[in-house]
Amino acid sequence: MTTAPLETYTLREGYGTPLVLLHGFPLDHRMWADVAAALPGEPTVVAVDLPGLGASPLTGKPPSIEASADATAAALTAAGITRAVVAGLSMGGYVALALAERHASLVAGLGLVDTKSTADTDDARANRLRIADEAERSQTVDAVLGMPGAMLGETSKAARKPLTARVEEWIRGQRPDGVAWSQRAMASRPDRTHVLEGFAGPVAVVVGEEDVITPVGEAEHMAAAAASAQLVQVPGVGHLSAVEDPAAVADALADVLARAAV
Ligand code: MLT
Repeated sequence: MTTAPLETYTLREGYGTPLVLLHGFPLDHRMWADVAAALPGEPTVVAVDLPGLGASPLTGKPPSIEASADATAAALTAAGITRAVVAGLSMGGYVALALAERHASLVAGLGLVDTKSTADTDDARANRLRIADEAERSQTVDAVLGMPGAMLGETSKAARKPLTARVEEWIRGQRPDGVAWSQRAMASRPDRTHVLEGFAGPVAVVVGEEDVITPVGEAEHMAAAAASAQLVQVPGVGHLSAVEDPAAVADALADVLARAAV
């Protein structure tokens, strides 16, 4: 079965190794707008809507992070991108690691933002499958509407109040079948710490100090696995560091771009 390609968005036109940005769940490329704007220099920045989220179709394949990575690689090839620094937040990080494993020649450097290389616990997997079933049964995204409460850090919820409504609005626009597919894809993913152990390019591991979904310990685990990783802990932000403190995340990703260029 042939399906339409994933949507890609050129957020900046510039020079050198492009930066590809992969969003978290259940969001889309819009979460990267402020990071793209804050990047120093003149990089090319391309964001992707992952399968079934934003404006992208489902892949026509059973849910898996591998299918998501393959569809992302195909979309980037179609956009003329053969080598890039790939940065992903949370679910986007799972896809970035799968890209580094399955499409190694594409990945010049990695930005792993509020994500983890480990697989789900049995409880987390069961919870994802429950949410997927609920999204399908109700044909709504109600089951994930409360996520901003856990995604945003305590400091942001108190001091950057408009962010909660902004993230909720992004979630309300998603498709129930995309939410279900993504949850099942994440539930089936394996541990990919070995990918970092074998990755020779530059890596930034970025984590909000108030992240309760993929906490600092997960970031430390990834940074210890990769030979050339820099660990950046961002104070005063939670799981959505790229939305809560885009300048800090932009600085960390600019550093990977600079190291990838050498
Ligand atoms: C995300 O932000 O992409 C999700 O929290 C990822 C997850 O549920 O593991």
